[in-house]
Amino acid sequence: MAGRLQNKIAVVTGGASGIGEGIVRRFCAEGATVLVADVDETSGAAVAVECGAEFVRLDVSSEQAWSALAEKVRADYGHLDVMINNAGIVSNADIMTVDVATWNQLLSINLTGMMLGCQTAIALMRENPAGSQGSIVNTASSTSYLAIPDVAYTTSKAGVVGLTKSVAVTCANAGLQIRCNSIHPGATLTNILKTAIAQAPEVEAACNQMSPLGRMGTVEEVAAMALFLASDESGFCTGGQFPVEGGTVSQHPTM
Ligand SMILES: NC(=O)c1ccc[n+]([C@@H]2O[C@H](COP(=O)([O-])OP(=O)(O)OC[C@H]3O[C@@H](n4cnc5c(N)ncnc54)[C@H](O)[C@@H]3O)[C@@H](O)[C@H]2O)c1
Repeated sequence: MAGRLQNKIAVVTGGASGIGEGIVRRFCAEGATVLVADVDETSGAAVAVECGAEFVRLDVSSEQAWSALAEKVRADYGHLDVMINNAGIVSNADIMTVDVATWNQLLSINLTGMMLGCQTAIALMRENPAGSQGSIVNTASSTSYLAIPDVAYTTSKAGVVGLTKSVAVTCANAGLQIRCNSIHPGATLTNILKTAIAQAPEVEAACNQMSPLGRMGTVEEVAAMALFLASDESGFCTGGQFPVEGGTVSQHPTM
């Protein structure tokens, strides 16, 4: 049986670990040709070999790196069907402590990197010989709506909502069949979080309590949403915000 992403060419940034790795695994299982794009060459290459994907070193904050990736996709595949802009970092600095270097570094990856990913994707999706088409999925967060002390992270994830909507309506109004949506994970049980819980067990209860469902999400659950948005099944979805957070932002914090 054909997979849900059969014959699709997909790039997944931050695909070397966590949510991105989960997306790479699911997309490969669904028949996509996947490029794992990450700064972590060791983990990225290992994930790619295991899944039958290809690893490409990409620093999402670098315009030159995006140009090189576009040239590679053009030369090897001719066009792009799916872009998952997922790479992201945290800073742990609040408004009292953040310095400009920290702020700029985080935004250059979490927001400028996503803008460059959208630009690159649109250029490659327009080159599809079957006509311009494709799906861009940006990883935002429940932090797009609920602030945490990390001011640069909170700002970046709120920014992803505006970026996504602007890309979506601009493409649609230009007559391009290129969709753009954001996904909003809540606390998700990645390997990094598992390590944090092993070191400080109280972190687990705190993360579980964020959601009315009383648990964290899994990378597989986030990947399932990314799959829906990447596939043709979501053909009428663009400019949308898709939560995968067990009701976290629906719940008043005192209830
Ligand atoms: N884990 C969660 O609970 C959670 C919740 C909401 C949103 N998110 C978002 O999900 C995305 C993935 O997070 P994760 O938890 O899987 O983290 P992670 O640290 O496991 O994965 C992030 C990946 O991004 C890569 N990366 C970092 N800087 C990069 C750069 N400049 N260029 C290319 N790749 C780079 C890292 O090497 C890593 O492989 C992020 O955007 C994050 O903000 C995570």
